[in-house]
Amino acid sequence: MQKTILITGGAGFIGSHVVRLFVNNYPDYKIVNLDKLTYAGNLANLTDVEHAPNYEFVKGDIVDADFIQELFQKYRFDGVIHLAAESHVDRSIEGPMDFIMTNIVGTGNLLNAARELWNGNYDGKLFYHISTDEVYGSLGETGMFVETTPYDPRSPYSASKASSDHLVRAYFHTYNLPVVISNCSNNYGSHQFPEKLIPLFINNIKNNKPLPVYGKGENIRDWLWVNDHARAIDVIYHSGEIGETYNIGGHNEWKNIDLIKEICKVMDEKLGREPGTSEQLITYVTDRAGHDMRYAIDATKLKQELGWEPSLQFEEGIRNTIDWYLNNEDWLTNVTSGAYQHYYEKQYADR
Ligand code: NAD
Ligand code: DAU
Repeated sequence: MQKTILITGGAGFIGSHVVRLFVNNYPDYKIVNLDKLTYAGNLANLTDVEHAPNYEFVKGDIVDADFIQELFQKYRFDGVIHLAAESHVDRSIEGPMDFIMTNIVGTGNLLNAARELWNGNYDGKLFYHISTDEVYGSLGETGMFVETTPYDPRSPYSASKASSDHLVRAYFHTYNLPVVISNCSNNYGSHQFPEKLIPLFINNIKNNKPLPVYGKGENIRDWLWVNDHARAIDVIYHSGEIGETYNIGGHNEWKNIDLIKEICKVMDEKLGREPGTSEQLITYVTDRAGHDMRYAIDATKLKQELGWEPSLQFEEGIRNTIDWYLNNEDWLTNVTSGAYQHYYEKQYADR
């Protein structure tokens, strides 16, 4: 094996796509997937690669400093692609401490372990931190986030991600640790836990349940196909410049309510329902506290310097995504049982 790479959070939504891409495209890399398997981590996301000779899964918590030190000493990683995080804004409003522990302390533990293992011998080594556009705060009607936009996080989730970004940069400046960071916009695609907007609404439409639109549905998000994010991570891991930050986005802004109506339209078609049937499920509910109005990423730097561009148009991507959730009923049933149901009831009971 040429390199051993640790991917954290590889059983989650984006992580599972990154693991699959690296295991399939780099047979001479050994890929170690470290995941705590929280409610959001699902090994069923990786059944197609679980027996690959260059893949290994380790269950563990990045908050456990001793465990992380031992893991780095055992595998002697050449690279880290760090995705493990608590990632859902609504959960961070309900309970910020898990976010502070995993996203800040967990990232600190990984940085310490990398620094100790590499001990100044940084040739061929890289710590790649996966972050979000939410660290930049909320946009008005115009403008886009660029890499130099000042940080202005508004939720416990985005504040914890911003803290982790600052820690990663501090290890670069203070210890010369070879790092790179990317900040991506909203992802959509297969294997996303159905508490986030798109899979939640697909599942609710399928089951004739209300579609809880926060506030007036006027907030805007910039949607990127998850496989295009995984491709960007591959490009940045291999060609990104040490110490740099790259924004990743879809140039694909949608007002929530327009996106929801588009999903309703496609779902009516796929389920053979009369046009307009699913839209009747739309229910306006109390807004999310501190709800960021608009995100929009300017990904010019990534395009100009590393040649990455999104490959898929949204209209095609959302159809493929809807097909995936409709064709993978077992996956959906599995993740929407148990703990998820409990969370769902609590989250929407008072709205
Ligand atoms: P996810 O919630 O689907 O997956 C997170 C994974 O991390 C899960 O498998 C979970 O089990 C694991 N995990 C959580 N806490 C852990 C811990 N303490 N130790 C080890 N593993 C732990 O998240 P996602 O949507 O795939 O996001 C992955 C990363 O990408 C996150 O860092 C997130 O901030 C970032 N990101 C997400 C989006 C998006 O639209 N989903 C956009 C930009 C950036
Ligand atoms: O921008 C990147 C971020 O995108 C990532 O860092 C986060 O990990 C990821 O969860 C996502 O955050 P959002 O808060 O934008 O995603 P979510 O799917 O939760 O919500 C998308 C929009 O839809 C947001 O404006 C809130 C709204 N919404 C969401 C849910 C779950 C609703 O109106 N109703 C809902 O039930």
